[in-house]
Amino acid sequence: MNVATEPGGSDVAGPRARETTPFAEPGGSDVAGPRARGTTPLAEPGEQTAAAIAIEDHYTARNYAPLPVVAASADGVWVTDVEGRRYLDCLAAYSAVNFGHRNPQITAVAHAQLDAMTLASRAFHNDKLGPFCAALAALCRKDMVLPMNSGAEAVESGIKVARKWGTDVKGVPAGDANIVVAQNNFHGRTISIISFSSDPSARGGFGPFTPGFTAVPFGDADAVAAAIDDNTVAVLLEPIQGEAGIIVPPDDFLPRVREICTERNVLMIADEIQAGLARTGYTFACDHWGVVPDMYLLGKALGGSVVPLSAVVADAEVLGVLNPGEHGSTFGGNPLAAAIGTTVVEMLATGEFQARSAQLGEHLHARLRALIGHGVLAVRGFGLWAGVDIDPALGTGKQLCLGLAARGLLVKDTHGSTLRFAPPLVITSDEIDWAVDQLESALAEAGRARVD
Ligand SMILES: Cc1ncc(COP(=O)(O)O)c(C=O)c1O
Repeated sequence: MNVATEPGGSDVAGPRARETTPFAEPGGSDVAGPRARGTTPLAEPGEQTAAAIAIEDHYTARNYAPLPVVAASADGVWVTDVEGRRYLDCLAAYSAVNFGHRNPQITAVAHAQLDAMTLASRAFHNDKLGPFCAALAALCRKDMVLPMNSGAEAVESGIKVARKWGTDVKGVPAGDANIVVAQNNFHGRTISIISFSSDPSARGGFGPFTPGFTAVPFGDADAVAAAIDDNTVAVLLEPIQGEAGIIVPPDDFLPRVREICTERNVLMIADEIQAGLARTGYTFACDHWGVVPDMYLLGKALGGSVVPLSAVVADAEVLGVLNPGEHGSTFGGNPLAAAIGTTVVEMLATGEFQARSAQLGEHLHARLRALIGHGVLAVRGFGLWAGVDIDPALGTGKQLCLGLAARGLLVKDTHGSTLRFAPPLVITSDEIDWAVDQLESALAEAGRARVD
């Protein structure tokens, strides 16, 4: 089963280790890839790796603690580092690379737009913004789109719109609006967003915080209902909590929140920035429960892994509360991002990526579930999105990620002992098998080390 031990898998010193041959077929059926990849232990980084890490460590703010892999190029599901080693990317930039690295359909549009126009600002119209908003509104079955850049900006914008809707439409006294959120949420890193985070490391030292948020346990619809009062303008939720460890709520949770929001005249806002856009086998994670929120917050994969592109999507009675001068962004809705976003929406409209995620996700989850009792405690998620709880006795999630990177597999730990598998949706069944084989062998090795 362990492809990495096949001949050709350990020739790091040889010329093949430096090969960076791109996929013959974009979208990736390169099952020979793992065998061509080098397997130098990361404990012995090459010179180029060490030099790249040294300069980054010296000059870059230390707000991340990356694995010692220095990416230099990527294609489909494969990343190549500065030494020429290849890695199967099972993080996909936290779902931003849903369509694969350098997806040719997306890069073709990006190249063409680079040669036409990239930035206009919203002081003028541009010919790409309208078609993008029309396509995205249609995909979401909503009236309007507010284009922004990062995910956090979309969340901030959604909060502003909900408060304005509360004041202008619902009649909440100005300055009194309240928003119900979930504990253990992750919606980004700005001051207002961390104001309602329950993660001490996200908040420590960053106060004072923005008032107007009430946090309730995720999955508890009664608690949501109890937290709503006359000044509540919105309930803001990730339909599946990503950073918390891919936490899927009870089946009745989102349908009940939908009902409660409708009954109490409160906006239901779904942050689909990580869960949405085909990641879980549907266009939106909310679709698993047939729930339609009043507002979608989108980002990450919307920019086709080329540009930051995020959006607030809602009906006119909600987004229509914004007037000129009340909100904006210099780069929001720029023609390069809009052209790429239109292509991403067209690709999603085919349903192909949702189907891939659903079908291959079953295979991924079945293979991962088979490891329960062999170093894995639990597996959660839908589609090509899995949170895998590792037995803490085998080491930390970070230690396991280091071992997996040495085997040529990139995954990310979250909350101690949970690993997140979120490969680009162009991954093949064979590549999934190879990835899970690496996990299986890393767990077995950790188990042996524990016994020894
Ligand atoms: C659910 C969710 N919302 C918002 C964000 C913030 O997005 P960004 O990092 O682009 O600001 C993230 C990022 O991981 C996320 O997972």
